[in-house]
Amino acid sequence: MEIRPETPADVDAIHDVTDTAFAPMPFSAGDEAACIRKLRADGDLTLSLVAVIDGDVVGHVAFSPVFFDARSVGWLGLGPVAVRPHLQRRGVGSALIRQGLAQVKASGAKGCVLIGDPGYYHRFGFVADGRLTYRDLAARYVQWLTFGAERPSGVLTYSPGLE
Ligand SMILES: CC(C)(COP(=O)(O)OP(=O)(O)OC[C@H]1O[C@@H](n2cnc3c(N)ncnc32)[C@H](O)[C@@H]1OP(=O)(O)O)[C@@H](O)C(=O)NCCC(=O)NCCS
Repeated sequence: MEIRPETPADVDAIHDVTDTAFAPMPFSAGDEAACIRKLRADGDLTLSLVAVIDGDVVGHVAFSPVFFDARSVGWLGLGPVAVRPHLQRRGVGSALIRQGLAQVKASGAKGCVLIGDPGYYHRFGFVADGRLTYRDLAARYVQWLTFGAERPSGVLTYSPGLE
């Protein structure tokens, strides 16, 4: 498996992987692939990595700027992340997330936030302490990973493509 940044030739495959992976998820709004396209069109797709096996895109992760209390803060949001269903639970998602976090950290970002299941994201070092909030979501779903000493607080918003 190779993990590399997206190229223009990957755009339709990323859309398909995302649609297919989110389709069975009860929490899905069904618009995740469209959100990625909007992030890209807006110039907010800060990092977009694909996982490729035998020439096929089988997984994808996106990172985009986030805001705390409407302020630009140098933090990125992780997501959407998706892996083709028949290839899930084989480490593809973890590899995408770990490589993405390493690149985001190396780029100088202060940290990364996400909304997701703590049971999955704790393994990457994400924590939730209730100081960062997102709409009326329970605190444990609003998770962050700091690359320095800063601990995020306030009201989290994403780039327009994800709001
Ligand atoms: C989430 C996702 C990207 C993970 O990719 P993956 O390649 O299956 O992940 P990995 O193989 O690296 O990790 C699998 C582990 O994650 C766990 N896991 C996967 N999805 C999980 C979830 N939603 N909640 C809790 N644990 C989850 C598996 O139980 C497995 O745990 P184990 O290693 O202890 O057995 C993939 O399941 C997916 O595309 N899901 C549909 C889209 C989605 O829900 N995206 C995330 C929205 S926040």
